[in-house]
Parts: sequence; C-alpha cells; structure tokens
Amino acid sequence: MDRIRIRGGNALNGTIPISGAKNAALPLMIASLLTDDTLTLENVPHLADVEQLIRILGNHGVDYTVSGKRLATQATSGRTIHFTARTIVDTTAPYELVSKMRASFWVIGPLLARCHKARVSLPGGCAIGTRPVDLFIDGLKVLGATIDIDAGYIVAEAKGGLVGNRYTFPKVSVGATHVLMMAASLAKGQTVIENAAREPEVADLAACLNAMGAKISGAGTSTITIDGVTALSGARHRVLPDRIETGTYAMAVAMTGGDVTLEGTHSDLLQTALTALGDAGAEITDTPNGLRVVRNGNGIRPVDVVTDPFPGFPTDLQAQFMALMTRSDGVSHITETIFENRFMHVQELARLGAKISLSGQMARVEGVPRLVGAPVMATDLRASVSLVIAGLVAEGETVVNRVYHLDRGFERLEEKLGACGAEVERISG
Ligand code: EPZ
Repeated sequence: MDRIRIRGGNALNGTIPISGAKNAALPLMIASLLTDDTLTLENVPHLADVEQLIRILGNHGVDYTVSGKRLATQATSGRTIHFTARTIVDTTAPYELVSKMRASFWVIGPLLARCHKARVSLPGGCAIGTRPVDLFIDGLKVLGATIDIDAGYIVAEAKGGLVGNRYTFPKVSVGATHVLMMAASLAKGQTVIENAAREPEVADLAACLNAMGAKISGAGTSTITIDGVTALSGARHRVLPDRIETGTYAMAVAMTGGDVTLEGTHSDLLQTALTALGDAGAEITDTPNGLRVVRNGNGIRPVDVVTDPFPGFPTDLQAQFMALMTRSDGVSHITETIFENRFMHVQELARLGAKISLSGQMARVEGVPRLVGAPVMATDLRASVSLVIAGLVAEGETVVNRVYHLDRGFERLEEKLGACGAEVERISG
C-alpha cells in the first residue's frame, strides 16, 4: 500500500492548478443514465472514485471513451470523457459495487426515471457516520415510486413512470437533492423540491441536465422547480472547479506561510471557509488566474467554526481547518453538525503533538508552537489530507499511511504540493 512521506518546514510558493470537482463529476456521470445519447464531460478529474464509478456505470450498460492525448500546455485541464447509455442492460446495482462507493447509490434516480424500476443495494454505514437513505426513499415515494426493502436491496418501481409532486426535505441532503432532481427531470408534470441542498455541485448538475433538455429552475437556492420532459438528449458540460480541493490547498498555504495562486478557481465557491481563513490571518484575493492565498510573517489566529450545509462552512473542510488550528496562537472550537463520527483525525493529529479534546460534536483545539512528524493513518479522504497539512509544518518526517483514501479525491497531490516547494513524496508498495 502506498504511503506519502513529508518533510515539514517549507513554505508553499507558486501555482497549484485546481482540478474538476469530484463531487460534481460523480452525479454528472450518473446523469448519463438518463439518455440514450452521449453525454460529454470536460474537466473530469483523474481520481480513484471516478474510475470506480465508470466501472459501476459500465455494469448498467454505459460505454465510455476518453478523449486522446493533449498538448503539454493543457495537461492540467482534466480529461474529457464521453458517456453513452444507449441501452440500460441491468437495473440492479449490486452490493459489491455500491458498498465500495456510496455515491453509486444515486443511480436509483435515473434508473427509476428511465426504466421505471431499479434494484439498488443499501450502501451500509461508512467511516464518517451511519448515513441513512430515508430521504431518498421518501422523496422517490412522493414522485409515485413504490419502494420495498428486500435482502439488503431497495427495490423501487414506478409502473407508468414517475409523476411530479411537491416534496420538502426535512433535512438538507446533497445526494437526495441530486437524485430527486434527476428523477423529476423525466417525471410527468411539475416537481417542486423545498429545502433543497444549495451546494454549487447541485447547480452544476442542474446546468448539465438543462443542457440535456431538462427544465429546471432555482438550483442553487432552497426551492428547485422541475418541469418533467419525455426524453433527454446528449450534451457537453464542463465540471466546475473543486471547492474542497481549493479550500484544502488554501489551508495548506495558511499553515505553511507563502504565496500560492490556486489556478482556475474562485472565491464564490467557498466564501464561508475563506472568511474563516481570512480571520485566521491569510490574505485571499480573486485574480484573473484564480484565487491567491498569502500568509507572510503573521501568526495563525484561532477561529471558531461550525459546519453547515452550503453556504455554511463545509464538513469536507473541517479536518483540514482543524489541522490549521493546531498551530494557532490560542484556543479554537470546531463543531461538526453534518456527520456524527467525523473526528477520526483527532487522534492522529494528536500523534503529531496537537492538543485537541472532544466533547460531543465539538472539538476544542489548543494551538501549540510546534508539531513533530510521526507515522499516521486515517480512515477517510478529508481526514487523510488534514494529516498532510499538519505534516507540512511538523518537524522531521511524517508518513501518511493508507494513501488510497487520498487518491479517491485528490489528483496528483504530491506533485501539486511539490511544485510549490513542499518536500512530499509517494512511497510505493
Ligand atoms: C455529499 O455526501 C458529499 N459526497 C460528501 O462529501 C459531503 O460530506 C456531504 O455531501 C455533505 O456536504 C458527494 O457529493 C459524493 P448528505 P452526501 O446526504 O450527499 C443525512 C467527501 O469527502 N442524511 O448531504 O452523502 C446524512 O447522514 C464526501 O467528498 C439522512 O439522514 O451527504 C448526513 O448527516 C464525504 N438521510 C446529512 O444528511 C438521507 O437519506 C447530509 O448528508 C440522506 C442523508
């Protein structure tokens, strides 16, 4: 199993190209199930999760081709992939595949909309919490689906097709908003979703669906209206920049000090997190090339954050911000409200010398003057990268084990950090 070795102490200076967003690319790829035409996605990041979803979609009959070699000058612009679901050959998403990647459960929406039936394995728990699927079930039932649970599978059917309706989410869910939006695109009549997720990835999916011929308005606000159409066509769509990758590198620069431009991204995607970083002492400005993050000389100020659905502080940046706060000049409090078990990085950060105590969903982080490198490991993607951020300032050597977590969501991490002066290398095997 690969590991990442970091020698801490170098400031970051230079340019980091930001990849297409993993959490936009996944639902966009799933949307290809809605049409027998070709959906072309540009700026698709090269990540383990994307490769895994390609395999999962292949099981339903989705063919794909990756556009060929590009000029070196375009090497960082992501891949263009063509997805074609000419015929859906299988409406079952088996446990072996769904359990490997939770987002693959989302195929239930397009399969039900297009084939009027789907049999999708329940995903089960995961490292960051129980993550139930009740909101998906309730929402799809409101659109007329009958749903049974049989031997670990959700068996959904909509004889005669889904029918538009009004549904108010009792709790904000990104995935359930994606799924209802996709399902309602091919339902008869109008669907109104209230208390919808407002994440930029939801708006990106809606833009792509609209390019495919859907009639969706309000995506990016908490009320989304969808007028169902009888069929969707192919389209060409560019995946938006990854705001979590953006925030992660911004926090890395705030941690090490330096001056880095995060190329191809902008501040609208993560304003709350950038405000917190600014309060902590980083200077952040939008430039024509991307987002410039600078921290020179001054220390890191303690800042309290509470995770919330967009536009709040993202749960996917909580671990990285905690890593930053371990070196602040005081005490900060970090509260996690989205997932009940997303503090597994705490014990690993402690191995590097961080002083963190947990009380329920709140972490109290007392800044320390130094961290010292050690071998660490993490059980999820964002936790792993928080250890990389800590390793960048820890004295001596930090080895992050289980790099496959990082590979799920960070494209060429060691290369991107290395190009800005960090001593980071991958050790294979
Ligand atoms: C998406 O997961 C992201 N994944 C997650 O990113 C992200 O942490 C999360 O949204 C929150 O922003 C992708 O986009 C692929 P939710 P999702 O449904 O859609 C509860 C990463 O590191 N809930 O918005 O699965 C749920 O348990 C990943 O890239 C129900 O109770 O998250 C959670 O507490 C990790 N019932 C809350 O809602 C349901 O039926 C929000 O989850 C569905 C969700």
